[in-house]
Amino acid sequence: MDLNTIERNETDSASQSAAAASAPAKKVFVKTYGCQMNVYDSQRMTDALAADGYTATDVIADADLVLLNTCHIREKAAEKVYSELGRIRDMKAERAAVGREMLIGVAGCVAQAEGAEIIRRSPAVDLVIGPQTYHRLPDVLARVRGGEKIVETEYAIEDKFEHLPQPKRAEMIKRGVTAFLTVQEGCDKFCTFCVVPYTRGSEVSRPVAQIVAEAERLADAGVREVTLLGQNVNAWHGKGEDGMEWGLGRLLFRLAEIPGLARLRYTTSHPRDMDDELIAAHRDLPALMPYLHLPVQSGSDRILKAMNRRHTAKDYLALLERIRAARGDIALSGDFIVGFPGETDADFEATMGLVRQVNYASAFSFKYSPRPGTPGADMPDHVPEAVKDERLQRLQALLLKQQQDFGLGLVGSTIDTLIEKPGRQAGQKVGRSPWLQPVIVDEMAGEIGDIIRVRITKTGYNSLFAELA
Ligand code: SAH
Ligand code: SF4
Ligand code: F3S
Repeated sequence: MDLNTIERNETDSASQSAAAASAPAKKVFVKTYGCQMNVYDSQRMTDALAADGYTATDVIADADLVLLNTCHIREKAAEKVYSELGRIRDMKAERAAVGREMLIGVAGCVAQAEGAEIIRRSPAVDLVIGPQTYHRLPDVLARVRGGEKIVETEYAIEDKFEHLPQPKRAEMIKRGVTAFLTVQEGCDKFCTFCVVPYTRGSEVSRPVAQIVAEAERLADAGVREVTLLGQNVNAWHGKGEDGMEWGLGRLLFRLAEIPGLARLRYTTSHPRDMDDELIAAHRDLPALMPYLHLPVQSGSDRILKAMNRRHTAKDYLALLERIRAARGDIALSGDFIVGFPGETDADFEATMGLVRQVNYASAFSFKYSPRPGTPGADMPDHVPEAVKDERLQRLQALLLKQQQDFGLGLVGSTIDTLIEKPGRQAGQKVGRSPWLQPVIVDEMAGEIGDIIRVRITKTGYNSLFAELA
């Protein structure tokens, strides 16, 4: 670069910042679909855009940039995006009629999976950006403002996390006393129903120092509870501060040393990656909450094999036994798919049997949705929709009963609650139990960020009511 260019660039940026000082800030509206990682990513994109002069808005019609952070996991999730794009296209036209621009961006897993097809189907879209290139968002936007349409879905070789700016402390404080922190991204497991290995790429672990630094910044901003995120979070590994190879268990011990961080969680785990050290963390680390989301998907070995889960129902139950031996009060949560190709009544009954045996505190269950490009979509013997419906209903009734029984079992007991926010009704605050249930308490019971002892008095539909113990 010669001196001329440097000077020109400097003048450009000087005149730009002068303009920024007088012009109203540009606004971005971000809508998030899908899993917690998308929630985290949306915050990081918002942070990158803040550094680029955008402030966040909740009013879509006011936005100079609308970003949809999308999910591709099931057909319904992906189709939602296109119907939303139709609505936004009309708003874009209304703004254009009064001489105001509205750029439309699609990020997330639909962006990665469908790329340029999104612009073909919805020509009002200006940019499509996949999860591995969010750090390039400001550059991409500069080119879009120059009139280009951009599809950016290459898997970047550089570490995006190193290039994504951290939020300002004031912004972190605004985001509350609980936070997500991505430590691992991508998946190499290739379950035959799942798009994630294609949309998020292969497994990558963030380095220890980066994770510790981010957790320290969160704690400094008043965060009390951090949930570590990864598509296969317990596959996380990295070189530790002692030069040794660490797994997630060791990382949790390290994060528990950070002053202010009182509660740790992690999600989502794969049964094959629950190692001894992680189980030991559940035994020895009071900060690690006694709640584990450990999806099994099916209780039938035949179906588990067809799903390429690479464990049997018995393996899963034996693993739970070891975890429960380490931490008696651990509550379990899971994910289930009904109607995977070839699933017979007997296979489904095996799932029901496993659920009865495990007794879940909460769970998510879905009808199998064939995803383009996954092996499951091409398997024979797809299950009729009506059969899937009937199985899902039965499974959900059982899971709901278990969830309610779990809540009822807590009535009368004394537990810790992290106060998170004001309640919806005056005079109340909402906290969080160790098992992730919302706990409604009197607003005088404590300040936001306090962990208080409460006695559970009754259960609501999905929450607990409690008084100071
Ligand atoms: N990484 C996590 C899950 C990610 S997807 C894991 O390995 O458990 C979240 C859940 O969506 C999955 O656990 C599964 O139950 C469900 N899911 C994924 N693909 C699906 C599909 N094609 N149809 C229906 N449900 C699906
Ligand atoms: Fe999908 Fe299986 Fe990977 Fe989970 S482990 S993200 S279900 S492929
Ligand atoms: Fe959906 Fe992508 Fe998460 S497909 S569930 S947003 S990893």
